[in-house]
Amino acid sequence: MAINMKGKNLISIADLSVEEIYQIFDVSKSLKEKLYTGESHKYLEGKTLGMIFTKRSTRTRVSFETGIYQLGGIGMYFGPNDLQLGTSESISDTAKVLGRYLDGIMIRTFDHQDVLELGKYAAIPVINGLTDLLHPCQVLTDLFTVLEKKRVLKGLKLAYIGDGNNMAHSLLNGCSKVGMNIAIASPSGYKPNKEIIETAKKFAKYMGSKIEITDDPVAAVKNADIVYTDVWASMGQEQEAQERKKKFAKYQVNPKLVKNAKDDYIFMHCLPAHRGEEVVNEVADSPNSVIFDEAENRLHVQKAIMALVM
Ligand code: CP
Ligand code: NVA
Repeated sequence: MAINMKGKNLISIADLSVEEIYQIFDVSKSLKEKLYTGESHKYLEGKTLGMIFTKRSTRTRVSFETGIYQLGGIGMYFGPNDLQLGTSESISDTAKVLGRYLDGIMIRTFDHQDVLELGKYAAIPVINGLTDLLHPCQVLTDLFTVLEKKRVLKGLKLAYIGDGNNMAHSLLNGCSKVGMNIAIASPSGYKPNKEIIETAKKFAKYMGSKIEITDDPVAAVKNADIVYTDVWASMGQEQEAQERKKKFAKYQVNPKLVKNAKDDYIFMHCLPAHRGEEVVNEVADSPNSVIFDEAENRLHVQKAIMALVM
């Protein structure tokens, strides 16, 4: 039975039920097939998605805008200087006004609280396209990609090597919800958020999977089915890049490290990658790497999200 998700915000994977997550995957698969075979799927004919960006983006911007167009609707891009938002108008007033024109909002910004506030006051669905805290659309896509490659999710082991950032947080939310084991190796001072770890541990216990937080990248990668990494300095942390390069030097995903994973492991990265830092070409361009399938799937999964909530 289909679950009605119309009107729902998509701000964190922690807010989704396991059934809703698998429904998103089912719709993603069907939309991907329809796109490949040329079957019309204009489920959002005449609808408008507002796309607010206060940070840069390649994948999120292009996949959302193309996605809404393929669904029969239109995307409206707002860059950092386009709206009155935040500077000369409150988030709540902006949310109430945008809700009178648009059918959905996708937002990428710094402060997660701003997205929660937008979601609270907009009478239309709000989709989180990345905050400093979370990147749910990316991780739903990542899990969909794992499902395509490995046919199952439950019981697999994902090793995340690097910064305890928005990617690590959404991976904790996502893996624990679907019963995947997740091991995160980060240097001290750069571990994931404690509250998110605790919540993930509860879901993991319920689903029978394990969460491991360690300093040791080799231990994390041991027998992993998926090796995942992300940049050491995220958007907004550019001034810390040099210092972080030193602190994360031991956390590079390279051929020596991935030898500890299963032979048929897959390498994943949300991209953009800083090649030569968190990952080297020998891994990113190896037959085990699925980074471009992963990037493509942003389109299919976000179309599913839009079709379901808008
Ligand atoms: N992975 C991702 O969100 O990429 P962009 O920053 O290019 O949107
Ligand atoms: N952690 C990165 C992810 C980019 C998709 C950032 O926030 O910049």
